[in-house]
Amino acid sequence: MATAAHGDTSSPILSDAYLADPIAVLAQLRQSDPVHWVPGHEFWLVTRHDDVSRLFADPNCTPDPRAWERYQPAPVGSWRSQIEDRGLFSAPREDHARQRRLVSAALTPRAVKRMEGQVLEVVEQFAAALRGRTGVIDLMEAFTNPIPNAVISRITGVPAKGDDDRRFRELAQRTIRGFPSFAPEEVKRDADEAADEMAAWVREMAEERRRHPREDFLSDLVQAHDMDDRMTNDEVVMMVAALVNAGSETTALGGTYALRALLENPQEWAKLRNHRELLDNAVMEILRYDFGVGGGLPRYAMQDFELRGKPIRKGQQLQLSFNGAHRDPEVFPNPDRFDVERDTRNVVIFGRGPHFCLGANLAKQEMRFMVDAALDFLPPGASIRHDLVEWSQMAFVRRMETLPVEFPA
Ligand code: HEM
Repeated sequence: MATAAHGDTSSPILSDAYLADPIAVLAQLRQSDPVHWVPGHEFWLVTRHDDVSRLFADPNCTPDPRAWERYQPAPVGSWRSQIEDRGLFSAPREDHARQRRLVSAALTPRAVKRMEGQVLEVVEQFAAALRGRTGVIDLMEAFTNPIPNAVISRITGVPAKGDDDRRFRELAQRTIRGFPSFAPEEVKRDADEAADEMAAWVREMAEERRRHPREDFLSDLVQAHDMDDRMTNDEVVMMVAALVNAGSETTALGGTYALRALLENPQEWAKLRNHRELLDNAVMEILRYDFGVGGGLPRYAMQDFELRGKPIRKGQQLQLSFNGAHRDPEVFPNPDRFDVERDTRNVVIFGRGPHFCLGANLAKQEMRFMVDAALDFLPPGASIRHDLVEWSQMAFVRRMETLPVEFPA
């Protein structure tokens, strides 16, 4: 499939300016071309808050990738093909609701509150190792990357010890990177391999839980399956793998953005340090301010319709831009200011409608604890070493791979 090369001038999204400062380019597009066609990658980039927020749950659109006119099926027998055919984004409505019901009980605000001790313990384990340190420390490696994976591992029952933990995280990251339609073929192939390995691993553990049930989510799912066949074996594997995938990489990025926002906004950092009651709102502001840089969430048109005068054809892809929506001045006054006291009620970072993030309560709790701990372990004067940050780039999306921070003596 032909995709546009980077440096193509037919869309500002493909320019170097976008890689350097996506927020500025998105601001221009939001004004001049809020439903913008990106040639080569063949999608509409949607940047206004009211469009993004509505389209998440619009009956004209679906997250099912098979509805895309350029859909290329994943290799037969691969886990991606199972996910594409029967996963949460493509399951028929009733199946989707049934799968969500089985899982959501474990992730309600009450259930998440019960996990508080476990989550705090994990955060503390990594925070303790950072208190009193000096020199340059990569806080992605030492803090934000391992925590969400360790948390989701404990909840699901997937092991989090020693090298298993690292391996699982790597598999989750590789799998997630293959999801965007614009991911190059080799990244998709790598994602397929990782997803297959992850699935085989979860399946092995599910079989073990069948023989020796424990107090964990995986055992619960296996039992639900054994009792009245509500979930097939493959569904159990797919669901647990989905939670590990969806729950680790996203929240790790959220934690990284949180630390970056604090370090780059010392006034807000100081305010939060003295007013921890603002933490819940600060987490939503962090997610508004930074999350989703560059890309968007895909939807596929199920019929022809018009959007801001643009003819959207059945089968076309729309990318709903989080940064577009969350920096929209119509909804968030002075949107480029990071303000932990801002009204965050219109933040849509967890989506809307039937696919609303199942892990939102857990993600918010983890991020709150991570920020709370960071307010204590980051010494005054700590700063990001921008000269040492490592970046990766996939098509028009650039992301931080390290967060080197100087801890002054
Ligand atoms: C900061 C962290 C997170 C963010 C920003 C985030 C964001 C999202 C968004 C936007 C969606 C909707 C996708 C769509 O409509 O196409 C979603 C769905 C989902 N999320 Fe999250 N998520 C986060 C953390 C988590 C965690 C911790 C878990 C697991 C414990 C999780 C599990 C899921 C699942 C299973 C779905 C699919 C739900 C469905 O299709 O019915 N997420 N997430």
